[in-house]
Amino acid sequence: MSVTDEIKSRIDIVSYVQRYAPGLKKAGRNHKACCPFHNEKTPSFVVNPARQTWHCFGACAEGGDLFTFAQKMHGWDFKEALRELAHEAGVQLKAQTPEQKSRSERQDVLRGIVASAAEFYQRTLHRGAGTKALVYLRDKRGLKSETVDEFQLGYAPESWDFMLRSLRQLGHSDDDIVEVGLAVRNENGRVYDRFRNRLMFPIRDDRGRVVGFGGRALGADETAKYINSPQSAIFDKSRLLYGLDLGKSAIRERGTVVIVEGYMDVIQAHQAGYADVVAQMGTAMTEPQLRLVAPRFAKRIVLALDADDAGQNAARRSLEVARDALARDYAGKLAIDIGILRVPAGKDPDDYLRESPQGWASLVDQAQGVADFVIDMETASLPADASVPVRQALAKSILPILQASENNVYRQENIQKLARRLRVNERDMLAWMQEQTRADARRTRRAAEPQQPSEPPPEYWDNEYALESADAAELAEPSAIDAGIPARSLKRAIEAYCLSVLLKEPNWLYQVNRKLRELAGDDEALLAGPLRELCADDFTQSNYRALMIYLQDSMAQDDMEPLEYLAKIVDEELRPELSALLVDEPETIAERIRGNFRVDLNDILRKGVRRGRPGVNAREELVCRALQLRLERLEYERVEMQYLHEEAEAESLADDNQRSQIAEKIMLSMRAKARINLAVS
Ligand code: UTP
Ligand code: MN
Repeated sequence: MSVTDEIKSRIDIVSYVQRYAPGLKKAGRNHKACCPFHNEKTPSFVVNPARQTWHCFGACAEGGDLFTFAQKMHGWDFKEALRELAHEAGVQLKAQTPEQKSRSERQDVLRGIVASAAEFYQRTLHRGAGTKALVYLRDKRGLKSETVDEFQLGYAPESWDFMLRSLRQLGHSDDDIVEVGLAVRNENGRVYDRFRNRLMFPIRDDRGRVVGFGGRALGADETAKYINSPQSAIFDKSRLLYGLDLGKSAIRERGTVVIVEGYMDVIQAHQAGYADVVAQMGTAMTEPQLRLVAPRFAKRIVLALDADDAGQNAARRSLEVARDALARDYAGKLAIDIGILRVPAGKDPDDYLRESPQGWASLVDQAQGVADFVIDMETASLPADASVPVRQALAKSILPILQASENNVYRQENIQKLARRLRVNERDMLAWMQEQTRADARRTRRAAEPQQPSEPPPEYWDNEYALESADAAELAEPSAIDAGIPARSLKRAIEAYCLSVLLKEPNWLYQVNRKLRELAGDDEALLAGPLRELCADDFTQSNYRALMIYLQDSMAQDDMEPLEYLAKIVDEELRPELSALLVDEPETIAERIRGNFRVDLNDILRKGVRRGRPGVNAREELVCRALQLRLERLEYERVEMQYLHEEAEAESLADDNQRSQIAEKIMLSMRAKARINLAVS
C-alpha cells in the first residue's frame, strides 16, 4: 500500500470534511453539505464514503480525495498535506534527518531567548522609567491594563546593555543574543542592545510563540518610529500576522479576517471586542501571510489599510498577491471574497476604533468590492482628456483583477462599469480578457510540463502535484477539441470526449480494452498492471470517475439497455453532467466546458440520443483518446512510485525486496508507456 493509500485508509473522509462543513449529513449513499469553499444556500457539496471522494457540483465544479480536500481547505501544497495528514493518521514518513533535527533544536533555543526577553521587557514596563510608557499606553492610547497584559506589551529601558546583562545572566551567549536581533555587534566588535527607550510589542507566531519584536519610539526625535527584529532563523515578518494567535478562533468562527496595518490597530480592535483583526505589519500582504488565514480559517478578507497613498498601494499589492495565489489554486474562480474597508475621514483604524468602537462592525460589513475599489483607484487620476490609447492601456491593466472577481455575473457588470468609466468598447475588453485567459493557461501549462524522466526534478512533489491538478496534457496531434482550451480544461475535455462517446456507444469500451490487450501481447504483468482494462481511475474528474463506474455497472447487467439502466441508477447530482455528455457532439464539448450548458436528461432520453451519435472515425478517435488518458495516468503513477523508490533508497533499513519490487513496477510502467506511444504515433 502506498503512503497515500495508507493515510486514506486511516482517516475517514466524511469525518474529516465534517470538521470544515459541520452541516454534512447523510443523503442516500452520499453525504451532503453546503460547500465549504464557496458561499451557497442549497447544498451542492457531496462526499462519497464508498469512493472516499468529494465533489462540489456548484460553483467550484471540482472534486477529489482526502488530499485535494485538505490542500484546498488549508492552502497546503501536496507535500504539506502529506506531512500533516500522515501526522494525524500516525503514519510514519521519512524520519527527520540529523540536520533537520539539529535545526529545529537550535530554533527552540533561540525562541527561548526571545521568550525570556519578552518577560524582561514586560516587567520593566511596570517599574522605574517604564511607567512613563505605561502611562502613555493608558492615557494617550486608551488601553486598559488587561489589554496591555494580553498583548504582553513591554518597555526597553534607555540602556546599552539592559537586555544583554539580563540574558547573559540566564546563561545565553552574546552570539545567540545577536543572532535573534536583541543586540547588535558593530564593526569594532562591540555588542549593545538594539532596542532602547522603546515601547515593545512582542510578535508571536500563530501558535503563540514569541519570535520577534516591534519597538516603537517614545521620543519624537527618534529617526525610526518603529524598529523591528531583523530576519533570523525564527523571525520572518513576511510569514507572520500580528495578532493571529489571539484572533484565530474568532476568525474561524466568523469566517472573516480583517487585515490592518499596524500593531496599535490590532490591539485597539481587540480591546473593542473585534478579535478577528490582524496586522500585516506595515507592508503589503505576502502570499505566506494570506495562506495563514485563507482559505483555512476565512473565506472573506477585509483589507482595512491606511487611507494614505502608502496604504492604498499596499491594498493594491495585497490584492494582486491574493489574486495570483487564488488564481493558481482555484483556476481563477475567486473562492475568497475580498473587501476594502475605508475608514472615514482618513483616520487610522486605531483612531476610529477609539472614537466609535460600535461603528466598526458596519464598516467591515460595508467594505467595498474589489472591482469598485480598483476601478475607483486606478481611474481617479486619469485626466478627462486622456487619449484613447492611454485609456485602453489602463483598461488592460485593470482587467486581470476584474477577471478574478467573484463570479460571472459580477464580472460582466464590472467590465461594463469599467468600459463606461474609461469610454472603451466593451467588446474589445472581452476580447482582451479572453486573450489573457489563454496566456494564463499557456503559462500554467508550461509551468506544469513534466520534466525529463531520467533525472528526477528536485521539487518532486510539486511537479507531481502540478501534473495532477494542472494536467500537463501534451497531445500528439491537435484536433478540433484541442484548439484554444487551457491545459486543465484540455485534460477534462479528453475525459469528456471519451465518456461522451462511450455513453452513446457503450460497446466500444470493448474496442478500447481489446487495444490494451493487444498492446500487452502475452505479457501477463502488463495485462494485469499498466495495460489493464479502462476504468474509473483513468479519469481525474471525480464526476467522470463516478459516471465511468456506473457505466461499467450498467454493462455488467443485462436486464435493460445500458443507457436506460444507467439513467435509472445515476446520482441526482450527476444527471446534468450525464445529459450534457449525451447531447454533445465532440466539437461542442469545449463549449460546454466553458459555459453552463444545461439540458434535461428525460427530454434527451425521450428523443433518443441519435442526434449526438459519433461519426465513422469516432471509434479510432476514441481508442486513441483513451490511450492518452492511460498515458497520463501511468505518468502520474510513475512519479508516485519514483518517490516511494527514493524513500526506500534513503532509508538504509529498507529491505531490498521491497526496493526491487518498486523498481520493477517502474520499469513495467515505462514499458507500457513505450508501447502506447508507439501505437498512438
Ligand atoms: P504606522 O506608521 O501607521 O504606525 O505604521 P501605527 O501603527 O499607526 O503606529 P502609531 O499609531 O503611530 O503608534 C503601521 C505599521 O507599519 C510598521 C509597523 O508594524 C506599524 O505598526 N512600521 C511602521 C514599521 O515596521 N516601521 C516603521 O518605521 C513604521
Ligand atoms: Mn496609528
